[in-house]
Amino acid sequence: MAETRSEGMDEIGGLDLEPEVAARVAALMAGIQAQSVRVGVIGLGYVGLPFAVEKGKVGFSVLGFDRQQARVDRVNQGRNYIGDVADAELAALVAAGRLRATTDIAQLADMDVLVIAVPTPLNKNLNPDLRHIEAVTRDIARHLRPGQLISLESTTYPGTTDEIMQPLLEAAGLRAGTDFFLAYSPERVDPGNQRYSTCNTNKVVGASHPASLALATAFYRRTIQHVVPVGSAAAAELCKVFENTFRAVNIALVNELTLLCDRMGLNVWEVLEAAFTKPFGIMPFYPGPGVGGHCIPLDPHYLEWKAREFNFNTRFIALAGEINRRMPEFVMDKAMRLLSDRGLGLRGSQVLALGVAYKKDVDDPRESPAAEIIELLVQRGARLAYHDPLVPRFQGRGRELESVPLSAEALAAADLVLILTDHSAVDYGFVVRHARLVLDTRFATRGLDCDRAKVVLL
Ligand SMILES: NC(=O)c1ccc[n+]([C@@H]2O[C@H](COP(=O)([O-])OP(=O)(O)OC[C@H]3O[C@@H](n4cnc5c(N)ncnc54)[C@H](O)[C@@H]3O)[C@@H](O)[C@H]2O)c1
Repeated sequence: MAETRSEGMDEIGGLDLEPEVAARVAALMAGIQAQSVRVGVIGLGYVGLPFAVEKGKVGFSVLGFDRQQARVDRVNQGRNYIGDVADAELAALVAAGRLRATTDIAQLADMDVLVIAVPTPLNKNLNPDLRHIEAVTRDIARHLRPGQLISLESTTYPGTTDEIMQPLLEAAGLRAGTDFFLAYSPERVDPGNQRYSTCNTNKVVGASHPASLALATAFYRRTIQHVVPVGSAAAAELCKVFENTFRAVNIALVNELTLLCDRMGLNVWEVLEAAFTKPFGIMPFYPGPGVGGHCIPLDPHYLEWKAREFNFNTRFIALAGEINRRMPEFVMDKAMRLLSDRGLGLRGSQVLALGVAYKKDVDDPRESPAAEIIELLVQRGARLAYHDPLVPRFQGRGRELESVPLSAEALAAADLVLILTDHSAVDYGFVVRHARLVLDTRFATRGLDCDRAKVVLL
């Protein structure tokens, strides 16, 4: 995993640098190789905290920064709050003094390497909202000193590192690539994925100055099995938004097929599973009630927005967004049709939504399509309850709900059980046994020996 000392040094030895810069680069490279550099991680969320733990585990001394005092307190107490982090690992690092957290921005000056993992949301017009990246960059700029390496990990449009961050950092006179070093390395973490975590997921690193690229590559190689350097920050930024666009487009493709199959009276799951038996030239993607989470619904719009600067329309992105955004309404419509077939109206019907997290086995309800589906059902008069073993409270659109226990009584009382997330912890045999009617938007009932007459697939 970790490159040898001579590999990193050979690489910087080949760069054409002024002696003073070469000495600065060599000192930082030596500190990275020896793992004696102090690492600051800004933003201790789904991305930042697992990263901080990975770096701490291999021996770096890590200081986490977050503006939320509650998160900082929890880290310092060794109390985990992120699903992908092992409770015992966090507690052990804190106890050993290798990981601490603070809200005190002035301590940025003491760090040698700074990794940024703050949110990159959209504003209400679906345009990029870089206010968190800009705020952090200004904080760093106030405390910047020669010899620091700064790496942005937040997902963003190509140009953010060079066009937004670099000028802010250089405002006080220090220069990127010679005085301090600046890189972009997108996080690819897939929350809940048991096979791929931060350390065994290939990591792309891009920087627009050779010394920055060599240092950032060496830094990531200390903890990640395979690092893929690219020649500019913008290439790495585009790589990340392309990956998420690829998913959004392919999910839209199977969602569109679902809409067609509904009209044709065909089972889309049967069609797809047959298609995915082809051993080449196809890749499995599955339909669902809509896309959610912090990435797929948001990131392609970052690229769409940037493309407009080049008088270019990213038509696949627009189309995928349009189809994926239609799915909650389709789910509501299908629920309405199923109830109507049984002589019931949505108004006054009891609906039990099963799962509100945006995907299987995660406790994250951000951007979950469940919020819109619940809202649409409630607006049309449904009486709604939900159960999610991982999300005890759910802030829907303007309403706060609490998960109800998944009892035989609750299932039998519902006119419709609506499976929105296929968490592994739910016993779907029990669900179908006690429910009167199930709309399964995830094919969670796949392979179940149950009364299929009660179950309708999306
Ligand atoms: N969650 C994922 O699965 C995932 C995967 C890949 C990439 N990403 C990207 O990583 C970035 C971070 O996402 P996340 O899911 O970890 O977000 P998050 O909301 O879980 O965590 C972000 C943290 O940053 C903190 N923060 C915000 N502004 C700050 C500031 N000015 N100073 C200090 N702390 C600040 C917040 O308090 C929060 O704790 C985003 O760009 C996201 O698109 C996320």
